[in-house]
Amino acid sequence: MLEELEAIHADAISAIAEMADIDGLEAFRVSYLGRKGRLTVAAARMKDIPKEDKPAAGKALNEVRNAITAAIGEKGESLQIAIDAKAAENVDVTLPGRLMHPGARHPISQILDRAVATLRRMGFSLASGPEIETEWHCFDALNTPPEHPARNESDTFYFEDGRLLRTHTSTVQIRTMETSPPPVRIIAPGAAFRRDEIDSTHLSHFNQLEGLYVDEGVSLAELKGSLEYLLRSIFGEKTPVRFRPHFFPFTEPSFEIDIMLEARGKASKWIEIAGCGMVDPDVFNAVNKARGDNAYAPDKISGFAFGLGLERLAMILWGISDIRLLIENDIRFLRQFP
Ligand code: DAH
Repeated sequence: MLEELEAIHADAISAIAEMADIDGLEAFRVSYLGRKGRLTVAAARMKDIPKEDKPAAGKALNEVRNAITAAIGEKGESLQIAIDAKAAENVDVTLPGRLMHPGARHPISQILDRAVATLRRMGFSLASGPEIETEWHCFDALNTPPEHPARNESDTFYFEDGRLLRTHTSTVQIRTMETSPPPVRIIAPGAAFRRDEIDSTHLSHFNQLEGLYVDEGVSLAELKGSLEYLLRSIFGEKTPVRFRPHFFPFTEPSFEIDIMLEARGKASKWIEIAGCGMVDPDVFNAVNKARGDNAYAPDKISGFAFGLGLERLAMILWGISDIRLLIENDIRFLRQFP
C-alpha cells in the first residue's frame, strides 16, 4: 500500500509539472482525486490491509492527497497568471481613453428637484396616488359638479368601466386626507392627462406638482408666503409675484399666481404660473364622509392647496418655445441642460 501511494504521488507530481493548460489540469484532477480517480480507488482498498498497518497507511494517504491537491492549486495559479499576461500583451496603456458621454437630468426632473428641495425644507413630504382614478377622486370629492366641462368626454380620457386618467394631481389631496388625519403637509408630483390637441403649448400627458397643507388655523397669509418663497427660489429672489382672484371648485377663495418676467429686449410682463386657494369646506365634507368621521371638521381646521404645471415652469425658466421639445428626446436639445 505504502509503495503504491508513493508511486501515485511521484506520477502525479511529474504529470502536474508538465501540464500546459487549465482544462487539462482539471481533467487530471478528476483522474486522480475524482470518484473513480487513481487515489480514490487506492484508498478504497484500505479496508483490506491488516489492522496494525492501517494508521500508517491512513496517514500516508492523507499526505499524498494533500500534496497532490496543493500541487494542482499552485499549477492552476501559475497557468492563470500566464493567461492574464498574454491577454494584457495586446493592451496599449498609452492609447487615449474612450470618450464617455455622461447623461444629464431631464429639464423636467431638474425643475422638479429644485421645487421639491425647497418644499421639503418647508416641511412638506412626498405623497403619490394612482394615475388611473375614479371619477369621485378626480371630480366629485373635489367639489366639481357633474356638468363641469372638465368632466366632459371631450376633455378627459375615460375607461369603459367609468374610471379615467386623472386630469390633475389634485386627486392626491383626497387620497391623502382619506387615509391620514390632519395635520397633513404634502406635495405630489406626477403625471396628468387631458384630451388636448397637441401643439406648442399643450401635451395630452404632462406633469404637475400639487401641494396641500391642512392643520388648525392655516391662513391665507401662509399660502401667500409659502408660494412666494417657492417661486422665488425657482425664478430668483427678486421676482415679483402676484395673486389674482380666480375660481377653482376645490378652493375658496381661489387665486391664480402670476410672476413678472423680464423678457429680453421687451417690456416685462405678468405670466400665469400656478393655481391655489384655501381648501373648500365641501372638500373636507366629502373626505369626512368617505372616512366616516369628522377628522376634517371645516369649523376647526383649514388648509391651502396649490397646483402647478412642471412643463410650463421649465418653459418659462429656460425660455423653451415649444412644449413638444420636452418629449422628443432630441439629444441636441437635451444637451443644453447639463
Ligand atoms: N388642479 C388645477 C389644475 O389642474 C391646479 C390647482 C389649482 C390645484 C388650485 C390646486 C389649487 O390645488 O388649489 O389646473
